[in-house]
Amino acid sequence: MRYSITYRSGFNAELERQSLIAGLLAPNAAISPKYFYDELGSLLYLAICRLPEYYLTRTEASIFTQNREAITGAIGTGKQLVDLGAGDCRKAAEWFHFLKPSRYFAVDIAEAHLEHSLGRLAEEFPDTEIVGIVMDIATGLQLDGDLGTQPATFFYPGSSIGNFAPGSALQLLGQIRTHCHAPGSGLLIGVDAKKDAARLNAAYADPLGVTASFNLNILNHINRLIGSDFDLNNFRHIGFYNESMGRVEMHLEARTDCVVRIADSNREFAAGERIHTENSYKYARHEFESLLQQAGFTTIQCWQDNVQDFCVFYAA
Ligand code: AVJ
Repeated sequence: MRYSITYRSGFNAELERQSLIAGLLAPNAAISPKYFYDELGSLLYLAICRLPEYYLTRTEASIFTQNREAITGAIGTGKQLVDLGAGDCRKAAEWFHFLKPSRYFAVDIAEAHLEHSLGRLAEEFPDTEIVGIVMDIATGLQLDGDLGTQPATFFYPGSSIGNFAPGSALQLLGQIRTHCHAPGSGLLIGVDAKKDAARLNAAYADPLGVTASFNLNILNHINRLIGSDFDLNNFRHIGFYNESMGRVEMHLEARTDCVVRIADSNREFAAGERIHTENSYKYARHEFESLLQQAGFTTIQCWQDNVQDFCVFYAA
């Protein structure tokens, strides 16, 4: 059992709290989707991934399994593997046998998550050096000191990049590219494709209500974080594809006029008023290829499922 966890400076709890409160008090209330993932939220997300309507995870997994050799060939073996938003580390662990990473960096915003998953991983792979890094990648990658001069493979699966607006996504991709200075480095990334609105609507507003629970649970998390008193009964889940913006949006809509105590303020919500909780941008294959090129990647390969629901890119 060999693993360590380090914390990246720049993570400031008081600042986080201030911006959370400001977002809730703003006329167009919003909460960052990073707050979905408390313990229950992480479990609900795993449940979402098993819903028949939520094709993303399943489709990406099938692209991975069907192209294991080709993708491994593109990446090469024995490199450092940097998992961005590692969560339970299961997706990366499936690559260990093929990529034979020299070191594994699990980057995640949630420390509790890392403690748990890295302990298990270290037992399973006793010969791999495992490093956890608690960091919010939205505030910038700071990994140069960790990576040294060895080539690194960045792994960013699940279409998590969709949470960033295209301009911010480009910035993050550019930062990843900057960390790819050692020859043989690159980025393996999964991106959800634009498609029929009905299928996207079903994937983000499922009939079982798991996505609704996932969305509402953010209010429980916020209540614990900032001591607010949101009553979940007063809000309903909204999830739909905004075609002109090329993104799925999730909101929590007030069912009735209500007042919520937030820090030292009483925030009034009118019936029908919404709190914006998430954007999930979708990209046509050529759109994301162009984003990768703009970020400075020159060699781009893409693998898709046979109905082109999802893209996996390796960019170097
Ligand atoms: C984890 C950000 C990829 O946007 O599809 C699932 C989160 N939100 N259902 C996504 C999510 C609603 C998911 N990502």
